[in-house]
Amino acid sequence: MLTTTLLSLSFLSLLPSSSSYDLVREYSGPTFFDRWDFYGSWDNLTLGDVWWLDRSSAFRENLAYVDQNNRVIMKVDNVTDIPFNEKRNSVRITSQDWYGVGSVWIIDLTHLPYGCSVWPAFWSKGPQWPDNGEIDIIEGVNLMGANRYALHTLPGCSQPQGVLQTGVPGVTDCSQPTGCFVTETRPDSFGEAFATAGGGVWATQFDVAGIFIWFWNRANLPRSILEATSTSSIDISEWGPPSASYPAPVCDIPRFFSAQQLVFDITLCGVWAGIPSEYDPQCSNAGQTGRCYNDNVVGPGSPKYDDAYFEINYVRAYTTGGPAPTATPSSGWVYPNGSSTAMTLPTATGVFSGARNPIDTSPNGVASLGMSCQFVSWSGLI
Ligand SMILES: *[C@@H]1O[C@H](CO)[C@@H](O)[C@H](O)[C@H]1NC(C)=O
Ligand SMILES: *[C@@H]1O[C@H](CO)[C@@H](O)[C@H](O)[C@H]1NC(C)=O
Ligand SMILES: *[C@@H]1O[C@H](CO)[C@@H](O)[C@H](O)[C@H]1NC(C)=O
Repeated sequence: MLTTTLLSLSFLSLLPSSSSYDLVREYSGPTFFDRWDFYGSWDNLTLGDVWWLDRSSAFRENLAYVDQNNRVIMKVDNVTDIPFNEKRNSVRITSQDWYGVGSVWIIDLTHLPYGCSVWPAFWSKGPQWPDNGEIDIIEGVNLMGANRYALHTLPGCSQPQGVLQTGVPGVTDCSQPTGCFVTETRPDSFGEAFATAGGGVWATQFDVAGIFIWFWNRANLPRSILEATSTSSIDISEWGPPSASYPAPVCDIPRFFSAQQLVFDITLCGVWAGIPSEYDPQCSNAGQTGRCYNDNVVGPGSPKYDDAYFEINYVRAYTTGGPAPTATPSSGWVYPNGSSTAMTLPTATGVFSGARNPIDTSPNGVASLGMSCQFVSWSGLI
């Protein structure tokens, strides 16, 4: 009884601090790519077997474009025959806009990349990792049936037990290599099922009260999402329990999270999709060797990578209160009050020539390079 009372009291104080948000940016249609930087490097983050092309190469190779239905496509190369010891081309983009605590991001998609070796993600990051936090909104590997959420932070941030969410909690310490993760339980959140259901929508609230993520498949979109337009504000008060909840008292959000940039990427194999404990149960029969790189990345791209693409209706960013900015600087912090200012931190992105990186000598990308960044040493768990 006492416990129940304490819990409900603490949940009251954990309620998000605002329910009405003003639109500050929509990314969609022909202008979608205007405010994103292409990574232009091999995958030095998760050690996947891809080259994330620079902008002009990605457009030239048709790995990033807007289709005849005004949907944004980002995909893995499925037309090139890749020789052994080479990587396959793909896309990673980072928003030029930064979003502070007090933001909501909504993404509507009709298709997510999937298939053996495929590892897509839609996530956010600060300038330094993990010091400035990471929020994984859409992420999964191989033929996984459900999306996985996670936060990555320095030690000191965790997800409390018994939190109000519909997803299933996993590791709760956000500084662990896996991050503090939650697995989606609502239907159709990943893979072929997501596409068959006509896709769906994720909404992320990045607030002083906590970080909360919702998912709805196409058939179950709430009215506020269905009625939202490219200019309207949004009321989140009727969304119900989130799929994943990371309430603030147990994780001091402004301490562990700086303003965030949004990121899309698709990699292949690497330190999650490619490790045997993850790859083998779903995909060891995908080819002759039973190895992620050899059986997928190498050789023809089709039909293996025909489903390795994002198809996006829009990404919308909102902030609490205040007027929307009339002109946000091309790289600036967007404050919760909707005003923005020139950015003083490095963007940690760049456009490179796409030349092959001489230090990459490991075809399966895992062995010799050390684990230097995001998703560090998943293999340490097995
Ligand atoms: C990855 O490569 C990019 C481009 O060369 C570079 O800016 C970045 O610092 C590298 N990151 C790591 C973790 O090595
Ligand atoms: C690549 O995949 C797309 C669907 O994503 C498909 O339409 C196309 O035919 C494939 N390309 C080849 C060469 O098979
Ligand atoms: C918005 O917040 C920032 C940071 O707190 C502040 O510097 C700025 O003056 C505020 N702008 C408005 C219009 O209130």
